[in-house]
Amino acid sequence: MTTPKTYHVKSYGCQMNVYDGERMGELMAAQGLVAAEADQADLVVLNTCHIREKATEKVYSEIGRLKLREAGKPMIAVAGCVAQAEGEEIARRAKVDVVVGPQAYHNLPDLVAKAAEGQLGLDTDMPIASKFGKLPARRKVGPSAFLTVQEGCDKFCTYCVVPYTRGAEVSRPYAAIVDEAKALVDAGAREITLLGQNVNAWGDADGRGLHDLIVALDRIEGLARIRYTTSHPNDMAEGLIEAHASVAKLMPFLHLPVQAGSDRILKAMNRSHTRDSYLRILERVRAARPDIALSGDFIVAFPGETEAEFEETLQLVDAVGYAQCFSFKYSPRPGTPAAEMVDQYLPADVADVRLQRLQAALGRHSQAFNDASVGRRCSVLIERVGRRPGQMIGKSPWLQSVHLETDAKIGDLIEVELVSAGPNSLAGRIVAAG
Ligand code: 5AD
Ligand code: SF4
Repeated sequence: MTTPKTYHVKSYGCQMNVYDGERMGELMAAQGLVAAEADQADLVVLNTCHIREKATEKVYSEIGRLKLREAGKPMIAVAGCVAQAEGEEIARRAKVDVVVGPQAYHNLPDLVAKAAEGQLGLDTDMPIASKFGKLPARRKVGPSAFLTVQEGCDKFCTYCVVPYTRGAEVSRPYAAIVDEAKALVDAGAREITLLGQNVNAWGDADGRGLHDLIVALDRIEGLARIRYTTSHPNDMAEGLIEAHASVAKLMPFLHLPVQAGSDRILKAMNRSHTRDSYLRILERVRAARPDIALSGDFIVAFPGETEAEFEETLQLVDAVGYAQCFSFKYSPRPGTPAAEMVDQYLPADVADVRLQRLQAALGRHSQAFNDASVGRRCSVLIERVGRRPGQMIGKSPWLQSVHLETDAKIGDLIEVELVSAGPNSLAGRIVAAG
């Protein structure tokens, strides 16, 4: 196989993968490779997700499609959590050229060189020294940029592969994060979303917590908005809640997964919070920032979940009134404790009906939240061009998509009145240029 001259990175799954995908792209560009479409590129990096079975299946079908292109082309690198979980097995099964885990992708250039010589480029180590220092500097980014500040998870929820694929919780150093945030702003970012599997567990030896990072970012001139995701209820420190009241750039949005509404199921999931302790956290957050938009993740049909326990999830959803949520059917993941509860798996049709009922309830709440936004004035950060001529799409402070007729450009922050609402987006009218 020859040395690739062009590359394409395709990311699946969470925002941390999107961030990693961008950084792998920058790494390839620094090697002199040129970005290309997937059906043209000499090297295709599939940055994979292992969280549910469906996500993993997608990788194998994408590899199959790429293999149809022409014999020996393109060079295929599997990165991300499937690479970490399956290691050499994926090379054997799918005949790919490079397998690289999420903690080792700074070595991608060496692995690609090895593959060009006809050997398997394999690296799924989780080294102590962080990869971040070995990556090229940030150059050009969109108006809304991601910044990974924390990786891994020590919570070991019984259904979840993350502690195995991403490793233990590690926080990046404060100074490195602040420097990268400044570089992102210089590269065009107006909004930064701090990322981590447990972003609110971020901390350092000097006793700093996520709110200290938020305060540091608040001081960066040119940065207009700060967000963070994903948080765990047990790491919602007082300082972070207070930051929602005191830091103007911190957007009124909190993604705080609860997963289920029944204490018995939460215990079986090893969530280490209860329905009540979760609701009490939300009360404190709402006291700090009354207009906050709440978001969550849910799993239905966890092994052994009864009808009554599922209904407790529906009641919780009604009690909270989420602005938007993600909801999933339980998917058994090899190696996790819940996957061993085989005798308690629920039939697929029961899971389907529960997911439909939950999604209907969540949809009603999203619509209600959006309806209540109509008439509000707010800033919108323009992120992309809409489908209709003259139409642009941006985000409100509450992370709603807002469609506008405007000659504003991508990256502009404009004052808007929200005029109508659907379940997934709103229409806005320009009030004044900002
Ligand atoms: N099955 C279904 N959903 C899962 N999630 C994590 N693991 C599983 C699984 N095995 C969901 C959780 C988590 C989100 C990122 O994915 O809701 O918060
Ligand atoms: Fe997975 Fe639980 Fe960790 Fe979230 S907190 S990444 S669901 S183990």
